[in-house]
Amino acid sequence: MADTLTVTDNRTGKQYELPIKDGTIRATDLRQIKTADDDGGLATYDPAFMNTAACRSRITYIDGEKGVLEYRGYPIEQLAEQSTYLETAYLILFGELPTSEQLADWTKQITLHTMLHENIKKLMEGFQYDAHPMGVFVSTVGAFSTFYRDAKQIFDDHSRQKQIHRLIAKVPTIAAYAFRHSIGRPYVYPDNELSFTGNFLNMLFRMTELKYQVNPVLERALEVLFILHADHEQNCSTSAMRGIGSSHVDPYSAMAGAAAALYGPLHGGANEAVLRMLKEIGTVDNIPGFIKRVKAGEGRLMGFGHRVYKSYDPRAKIIKRTADAVFEVTGRNPLLDIALELERIALQDEYFVSRRLYPNVDFYSGLIYQAMGFPVTMFPVLFAIPRTAGWIAQWEEMLLDPEQKIARPKQVYVGHGRRDYVPLSNRS
Ligand code: CMC
Repeated sequence: MADTLTVTDNRTGKQYELPIKDGTIRATDLRQIKTADDDGGLATYDPAFMNTAACRSRITYIDGEKGVLEYRGYPIEQLAEQSTYLETAYLILFGELPTSEQLADWTKQITLHTMLHENIKKLMEGFQYDAHPMGVFVSTVGAFSTFYRDAKQIFDDHSRQKQIHRLIAKVPTIAAYAFRHSIGRPYVYPDNELSFTGNFLNMLFRMTELKYQVNPVLERALEVLFILHADHEQNCSTSAMRGIGSSHVDPYSAMAGAAAALYGPLHGGANEAVLRMLKEIGTVDNIPGFIKRVKAGEGRLMGFGHRVYKSYDPRAKIIKRTADAVFEVTGRNPLLDIALELERIALQDEYFVSRRLYPNVDFYSGLIYQAMGFPVTMFPVLFAIPRTAGWIAQWEEMLLDPEQKIARPKQVYVGHGRRDYVPLSNRS
C-alpha cells in the first residue's frame, strides 16, 4: 500500500501524487496544482483550524474517540493518582520524569523564584479595587518582560531555563496577589517551606496566624486539578502562545497573549458558566424542564460536549472523585445534587447520547473551586497557573523546531476588486 494520495484536478484533467506522512498531506504540496503558470496554486481553506495540523509535537497525546489523555506518553489517570504538579510540569517541559536528584533541584529552583519584585507588587497595587483578577494576571505577566530583559535571549538555553523557572514559580504569586487585591486584603509573601500548592493556599487565605496550616486534602486536590490542566495540546491559548512566540518575542509577552486567549468564555470561562447554569436551575425538580429547553435549542447544557472528546472526558472522571474528597472537608456544595442529577439524566437521554455529549473537565471543577472559597472571577486564573507549564513547553518546542517559521496563515480575499480613490468632496 503506497503512502500517497492521488488527486485529479477536474479543471485541467491533470493528476498529482502527494505523499502522506503521519496521516497528513503537506498543504504546500497542493501549490503545484495550478490552472495556469501565474496562478498561486491550490490552498486549503480551514477556518478555526478544524482539520489542519500546524506542528509536530511530542508533548501531549489525545484520543478524543477513546477518551485518552497522555503527557509524554504517561496516562493522565496515573499522573493524577501518583504525581505532583511540579513533577508533572518537569515531565511536560523536559520530556522525562525526573530522578529524585533532578526533582530536588527543580523544586529548589522553583522555590527560589517565588517572590515578585517589589515594583511588580506596586504595579499590581495600581489596579482598581474591583479589577478582574484575570485582567490583572494578563497585564502582570506582560509587564514581566520589562523586568527581565535577559528574556529576549530566546535562543540561549541558559536564559530560557531561567525564564521557565521564573514563570512556573511566579504565576501562583501573581494569582494570589490579584485575588487578595480584589478583596482588599494585604498581600501574603511566599512561604518557601510549603509545597507548591500549600504555599499557594497560604498566599491566598492566610490571615493573622504566624504560620499557615495547610489542609492536606485541599493541598492534594489542587495538585490534582493542576495536573489535569497542565497541557491540552493545540488549544486556543496554546496556539496563541506558539503564534506570538513565532515572532521571536520574549516568553512573557507571548504568555500574556496566551493568557488573554484563556480569559475568553469559550475557553477558560466555561466552568463559571456551569455554576451560573446550576444556580439558575435552582432545584432538582426544575431539571426536566431545563433539559427540555436545551433539547429545543434554547441554550446548552454547559460543561457537556467537547470539540475533541466524543466520550467521557478523562479529566472529568478524576475531578468527580476529587470533588468528593474536597466536599468532605468544606461541606457539600448544594449545587452538586443538581449537577449529579443533570449528568444522570443526560447520560441516558437520546439527544445527548446520539450527539456523544459527555461531561467535560469544566462540569465539576467550578463546584470544587467554589467550595474551596474561590470567587468565579478566579477560575480562569486557576486554569492559567498550571497551563503555564504547557504553554512554555509548547513555546520551547516551537522555537527549537527547524521546520517552524513566523506564523502567517493565508486568506481567501473576497473583498472589492481594484478601484480608484474618490476625493472626499465627490463622495455621497
Ligand atoms: N448542550 C446541548 N447541545 C449541545 C451541547 C451542549 N453542551 N454541545 C453540543 N451540542 C449539540 C449541538 O447543538 C449540535 O447539535 P445539532 O447537530 O443538532 O446541531 C451538536 O451537539 C454538535 O455540536 P457542535 O456545536 O457542532 O460541537 P463543537 O465541537 O463545535 O462544540 C463545544 C464543542 C465544547 C463548544 C460544545 O459542546 C459546547 O458548547 N459545550 C458547552 C460549553 C462547554 O462546556 N465548554 C467547555 C469545553 S471543555 C474546555 C477545555 O477543554 O478547555
